Amino acid sequence: MHLVTIKILFFILASLISPNAYSQYTTSVIPITKDEATSLHKLARSFRLRSWDGEPYLLLDLEAPFTEKQCSVITNTTDIPPCGLEEGCRFPLKCDNPSCQEAESYFNPTCPALNFTCEKCEVTSFNPVSNSCNVSLMTTDLFNAYLTDGRNPSLGPNQPFGYYEYVISCASKLLVVSSPGNITGVAAFSWSGLAFPRKLSFLDSAEKLALCLPGTTSGLGVTFLGDGPYYFTSDPNLDLGSVLSYTPMIRKSSKSLGYYIKINRISIKGALISVPKSSSVKLSSRVPYTVLRSDIYNALIAGFSKATVNIPKVPAVKPFGLCLKDSAIGLDGVPKIDLETESGKVWSISGENSMKRVGNGAACLAFVDGGSRVGDAIVMGTFQMEDNFLLFDLGNQKLGFSSSLLSRGTSCSKFNFTEVAS
Ligand SMILES: *[C@@H]1O[C@H](CO)[C@@H](O)[C@H](O)[C@H]1NC(C)=O
Ligand SMILES: *[C@@H]1O[C@H](CO)[C@@H](O)[C@H](O)[C@H]1NC(C)=O
Ligand SMILES: *[C@@H]1O[C@H](CO)[C@@H](O)[C@H](O)[C@H]1NC(C)=O
Ligand SMILES: *[C@@H]1O[C@H](CO)[C@@H](O)[C@H](O)[C@H]1NC(C)=O
Ligand SMILES: *[C@@H]1O[C@H](CO)[C@@H](O)[C@H](O)[C@H]1NC(C)=O
Repeated sequence: MHLVTIKILFFILASLISPNAYSQYTTSVIPITKDEATSLHKLARSFRLRSWDGEPYLLLDLEAPFTEKQCSVITNTTDIPPCGLEEGCRFPLKCDNPSCQEAESYFNPTCPALNFTCEKCEVTSFNPVSNSCNVSLMTTDLFNAYLTDGRNPSLGPNQPFGYYEYVISCASKLLVVSSPGNITGVAAFSWSGLAFPRKLSFLDSAEKLALCLPGTTSGLGVTFLGDGPYYFTSDPNLDLGSVLSYTPMIRKSSKSLGYYIKINRISIKGALISVPKSSSVKLSSRVPYTVLRSDIYNALIAGFSKATVNIPKVPAVKPFGLCLKDSAIGLDGVPKIDLETESGKVWSISGENSMKRVGNGAACLAFVDGGSRVGDAIVMGTFQMEDNFLLFDLGNQKLGFSSSLLSRGTSCSKFNFTEVAS
């Protein structure tokens, strides 16, 4: 064949197999479940609706440098007939592979140092729930999540060519994060070049991650990778991307994995809570309740206690320090905790995100004391982010936030997960 013909043919083929060719499907959508055992959030290993009852989950992780699964890698190829990833055959990355070098550069300082032999790509994998480390091998896997037009998931344009090869670490059984909930790995949504928001740029998206964590273990929440739009069934004409306030996201260094914003002040009913000027807040998927350094924690407890002086208190239930009599909380609820962000926009934490019902008629202020020597003074946990729509715009380094969707008559469980053909 003539070279030009070959080139043209290749070009046509390339545009056929590229998901970019389907203009209305440039965003990926992944269902999220709240785990009963840990109160953290997880997704099915297939990144789609759970296809069978025992299908394991991955923990949704905003800080992990790469996705980690419990799986095995073929290291001795002597007896293995040729086989591919589709058949589940995984081989270790070579040490000189740039993805291997990037993975090794995110070495977790709390893990013991490794002796790199450079025969295969070894890294330390980290279990964010038990804080334990182990050795694992970097390899590749196939990603085939739903794409969406913003309203429904669709498998159509993603198949049969849309399988996307990406880098993961294969860890041993020690990675099991939560046995009752069958979580056997972590899915990385951090700022790392190996995590999904930046890795899936093949979707023609501008490095955007939208997160809507479900508040109950029964409903499905949703994560989007890409530009949207993001429509929920409760208000079919409202793109949730259009209701957000924005504030800059802070990166501490080029290797920094987590998402941080700055706040100017915290107030309750206009009364200021004393916090150091311009505190940074880490948004964490690894803790269920916001962890505050002791000085900030004590100031918040004092301020909230004062603002709820008319509601009878009941003995505190661990790990919380202030509990109210649930039945005495009126229809108006408790006062909001307002975080004024660096941009001057206010993130309001209303009762659904501040009070945790712990049984026996008690509702507790769902913040915990991290002690006086924590690394980050304010680490926002998942309970405070549930039923809030959050848009992490990595390209423009800003965070969009909605405050509670419940006051808008919707929730994170209102995305329509009925699959449609494209
Ligand atoms: C966990 O996995 C086992 C077997 O793989 C399955 O029988 C069980 O239903 C799963 N549990 C949950 C909570 O999914
Ligand atoms: C690889 O497998 C073959 C056949 O099972 C065996 O003879 C050989 O010793 C193995 N090599 C290593 C390095 O384990
Ligand atoms: C690393 O390698 C050095 C030199 O080969 C050896 O002395 C040391 O014991 C090794 N450390 C570990 C943790 O394997
Ligand atoms: C991996 O786990 C084994 C068994 O618990 C342990 O002996 C080993 O030290 C761990 N490795 C690392 C790097 O933590
Ligand atoms: C969900 O989507 C399906 C397919 O488009 C549609 O038939 C159904 O009415 C939708 N459900 C809701 C509650 O909007």
